[in-house]
Amino acid sequence: MNGWTKKDLIGLEVLSKDEIDLILETAVSFKEISTRQVKKVPTLRGKTIVLFFFEPSTRTRSSFELAAKRLSADTLNISTSTSAVKKGETVKDTIKNIEAMQVDAIIIRHPASGIAQALSNCVGPSIINAGDGCHEHPTQGLLDIFTIKEKKGRIKGLNVSIIGDISHSRVARSNIWGLKKLGARITLCGPRTLIPKGIEKMGVNVTTSLPQALENADVVNILRIQRERQKAGLFPSLREYAMRYGVSKEKLEKYAKDDVLIMHPGPMNRGIEITPDVADGSFSVILEQVTNGIAVRMAVLYLVCQAQAEEEGQES
Ligand code: CP
Repeated sequence: MNGWTKKDLIGLEVLSKDEIDLILETAVSFKEISTRQVKKVPTLRGKTIVLFFFEPSTRTRSSFELAAKRLSADTLNISTSTSAVKKGETVKDTIKNIEAMQVDAIIIRHPASGIAQALSNCVGPSIINAGDGCHEHPTQGLLDIFTIKEKKGRIKGLNVSIIGDISHSRVARSNIWGLKKLGARITLCGPRTLIPKGIEKMGVNVTTSLPQALENADVVNILRIQRERQKAGLFPSLREYAMRYGVSKEKLEKYAKDDVLIMHPGPMNRGIEITPDVADGSFSVILEQVTNGIAVRMAVLYLVCQAQAEEEGQES
């Protein structure tokens, strides 16, 4: 494929294998910029990128902001507490007002599944989904895939196990769509109450047994247990969850391959879904995922802004 043509990045479900490969290849060339003494190139000089976060975020927001700044774009941060949404304005009206300020891209995180797609249909700037409800978190999926490829040299044929709350995880969905397109075999593992019925239709294996999910896995991606789910009665106690599904060094030594890769999108609940000796251990690439997030987000910002510029050029 020669170039990127999409204005937006809503999810990995709607991307082709070639489009995912293009983002990953572009990210490889951007990764080196962050290792320079002067971590800046003029690629997006004159562009304005808005970060609109309706939910808390450490990694995604700062990673997108650094990615934009390293490409020399101007950035503007808006959050729920500082926006007029708090006074009753709709998200659509807020975004239309931001659009009227002639910005180029809007990165949005919001608890409503599908909001990124809905907004992309009604505004001109690129919409980049930074996590919408339980739907998708495409740049997390991409940075996870980038990290696996960097460490294992390939995606095709790898066994990837995703452990935890699959039902409420946008990270799981983006990983499943992306990894399947690139030829990985996926096993989902967690309590039955946290695995959506019929998810096997996505072409994944499902197990409630952690030992089974660890055996033969080349990669184990551990999801954050969302504590509020316990209140909803979806699992009995954090202690029991940690015993049955918490990934510990002892369990890895007993069941997993010698070269297993341990991933977690963050934020982690140490001692619940992952023990500190695994999080900080030699198999863990958790902080490398964070480092790679900047390169992947630089690639996404570059590609969508380039597509916008080409479209504008054709129109004029
Ligand atoms: N992985 C992730 O989305 O982390 P944040 O919530 O800190 O952005």
